[in-house]
Amino acid sequence: MKILFIGDIVGPGLNYLELHLPDIIAQHQPDFVIANAENLELSGSGSFVIAGMTRANLERLWTLGVDAVTGGNHSWDGNEGHTVHEDARVLRPLNYGEIAPGRGAAILEKNGLRLGVINLASRDALRLADDPLTVMERQLDTWADALDGVLVDFHGTSTEEKLTIAYANAGRVIAVVGTHTHVPTLDLRVLPGGVAYVSDVGMTGPSGGILGYHPSTFVSAMKKRMYTRDAWQFAEGPIELGAVLVTCEARRATDIQRL
Ligand SMILES: [Fe+2]
Ligand SMILES: [Fe+2]
Repeated sequence: MKILFIGDIVGPGLNYLELHLPDIIAQHQPDFVIANAENLELSGSGSFVIAGMTRANLERLWTLGVDAVTGGNHSWDGNEGHTVHEDARVLRPLNYGEIAPGRGAAILEKNGLRLGVINLASRDALRLADDPLTVMERQLDTWADALDGVLVDFHGTSTEEKLTIAYANAGRVIAVVGTHTHVPTLDLRVLPGGVAYVSDVGMTGPSGGILGYHPSTFVSAMKKRMYTRDAWQFAEGPIELGAVLVTCEARRATDIQRL
């Protein structure tokens, strides 16, 4: 089983994927394609303009062959941030309670394979999140051994926390991939128990700025101590692709490589 996971898609990163993802899929033949899509498009009003998901942009991802998307602290942002969760292919952090719209876990079925996907967030990304480990283990208990593997998108800043989640679930999950920082890390490895791991997959978005946004977005916010509508712009420059390919056999990861 092969899984292609694409890190936080930022604005113009979607145009890049429309040009290049078909070739990437043809070359690597993943059984499942999953992407973190929390930063797809700027929308909102007043001081709440921010990047989130919209149905139109999600439709473009489904057309490309993306099977499910994960999110994070921006899962409910933007004009359609609450209604996008009506689509069962859209996941948001599982450990953000029952009341917020959406679901945090799903089973994907394709090519005779069943892959569980869990989206978690740390409290440094979502202040009101519950303990991710407890929530994750409860979810894994409900799935028992009925799956060919479970992939976790852990959305947060702390590498210590991400590694702990991975080691704590050795043998129960096949991959823990980090998102949220938008900065790719070099620590790709398969941990004992067959868990493919990377602290952060990195973003898929324009490289000429800060986390895919124009530098003025954050410089202005730091000076004014608030985000304003005018400030939000995507960065320019070449698109960088943050993506990893995970290979598994017999419910264990055997390889993780950066594309
Ligand atoms: Fe992000
Ligand atoms: Fe985030």
